[in-house]
Amino acid sequence: GAPVEVDITSLQPGEMTTVEWRGKPVWVLRRTEAQLATLPKVTPRLADPDSDRPGFTPAYAKNEYRSRNPEFFVAVGICTHLGCSPTPNLAAGVGPGLPADWLGGFFCPCHGSAFDLAGRVFANVPAPDNLEIPPYQFSADGTKITIG
Ligand code: FES
Repeated sequence: GAPVEVDITSLQPGEMTTVEWRGKPVWVLRRTEAQLATLPKVTPRLADPDSDRPGFTPAYAKNEYRSRNPEFFVAVGICTHLGCSPTPNLAAGVGPGLPADWLGGFFCPCHGSAFDLAGRVFANVPAPDNLEIPPYQFSADGTKITIG
């Protein structure tokens, strides 16, 4: 499949866009400071907070944010359980099926797997792994992300 270019100049803080790459949805979320601040808070509730498991996190995303640039989260929007596409529940708060004290992230309605705003999977849900981070790069001027 050909690489896919995403113009990120019009993406506002807190906004997410979805593009298709190799037949899969890829999310680009521009995280706010408040959203980034949730990440250390949920760490104790996660199955693989440091993304140590092989195959889902390229070296450049093996950090707290799971990204090249903390502000922009890029992930394959497919649940690592059985392949549904999780729903963005980006804001904190209660919702059907969401874990208690939800701080924002992605929730898979198929069997109830939850992921934080870096795509890190919660412990004790059906999905075994963090969401996959695809290969991607920023353009030199920072206006575009190329996936693939
Ligand atoms: Fe997502 Fe089963 S496919 S929880």
